[in-house]
Amino acid sequence: MNKLNNIKFNNESFPKTIDILNSSPVYDAKTKKYKINLIKKLLKEKDAKIIAHYYTHEDIQEVAELTGGKVSDSLEMAKFGANQSSKMLIVAGVRFMGETAKILNPEKKVLMPTLDAECSLDLNCPASGLLEFSKKYPDREIVVYANTSAEVKAIADWVVTSSIAVKLIQYLNKKNIKIIWAPDKHLGKYINEKTNANMKLWDASCIVHEEFKADALLKLKEKNKDAAILVHPESSSEVIKLADVVGSTSQLIEACKNLPNKKMIVATDNGIFYKMKKAAPNKILLEAPTGGKGATCISCAHCPWMAMNNLDNLIETLTQEKNEIKINEEIRKKAFVSTNKMIDFAKKL
Ligand code: 13P
Ligand code: SF4
Repeated sequence: MNKLNNIKFNNESFPKTIDILNSSPVYDAKTKKYKINLIKKLLKEKDAKIIAHYYTHEDIQEVAELTGGKVSDSLEMAKFGANQSSKMLIVAGVRFMGETAKILNPEKKVLMPTLDAECSLDLNCPASGLLEFSKKYPDREIVVYANTSAEVKAIADWVVTSSIAVKLIQYLNKKNIKIIWAPDKHLGKYINEKTNANMKLWDASCIVHEEFKADALLKLKEKNKDAAILVHPESSSEVIKLADVVGSTSQLIEACKNLPNKKMIVATDNGIFYKMKKAAPNKILLEAPTGGKGATCISCAHCPWMAMNNLDNLIETLTQEKNEIKINEEIRKKAFVSTNKMIDFAKKL
């Protein structure tokens, strides 16, 4: 583990999901319909497409789907943006997702409903710190998770998302390449155990997935012996050990659909339930517990930053063309290399 954690943000300084939800707009059916129709009109006028993550509010996911946009995991979000002919992309998720869209599509205007939507992994991995860390290991390639800033992607050799991380590290390991992995220590540990690659791990974590507790999950499983446990690999290794399937958000939705079990216990952000229920309407879905030993429940299984996206700020963004993602061109070009390598690698799988 690195010794640079004096740069670490304190969880206390992060927004609390409950506060974000309490201040978020709630619409009756008629108002929601009006807002969705307005968004449809604005998207046409502006020649724009919405790209949303599964963790955003179901209203956002609904309008993205209704208008030919995309709702997906972070790899598919990046791929979708790169294949659009529209002039504008509205990325509903967190900042690194908007930045990834801009890195890959410099000619497009990339807007976000809010630029305050951060990610604890991104915040806890500044480029200056990673650069200093990497100087200690000059013989290693830097592989960073997509949940990082454009500056961090610019100093990385590879960018990767959870859906293909194990495969990429296996590929590099076969070539005897030693690795610096940043920023998610839990995902890094999981990949390391799967591949046995030579990896030095950065020390940061996702405040949402870290809340799932193995002891409470085990108790829930005991009461639901027939349930399959689906876990996102940003969770702790104790939770991952209990999983039947470990995967990205898209892979967990697929598993929910395809596993024979009627019941699923799901250890990832509960925003995913909207799409999971649609994909597998006959399954019983249970949230993995965030209570148990050492529980703090800062986010209670829902990312505070994802929760900042709503129909109101989406309309405001479209109307005023505000919250544009801007990246210094020199940094963008460097970040393009490592990010585009991920897209190319994914194509070959
Ligand atoms: P996915 O790539 O699995 O969608 O994960 C993104 C993320 O931020 C999970 O917390
Ligand atoms: Fe970042 Fe975790 Fe939120 Fe995903 S769920 S955006 S990893 S803080």
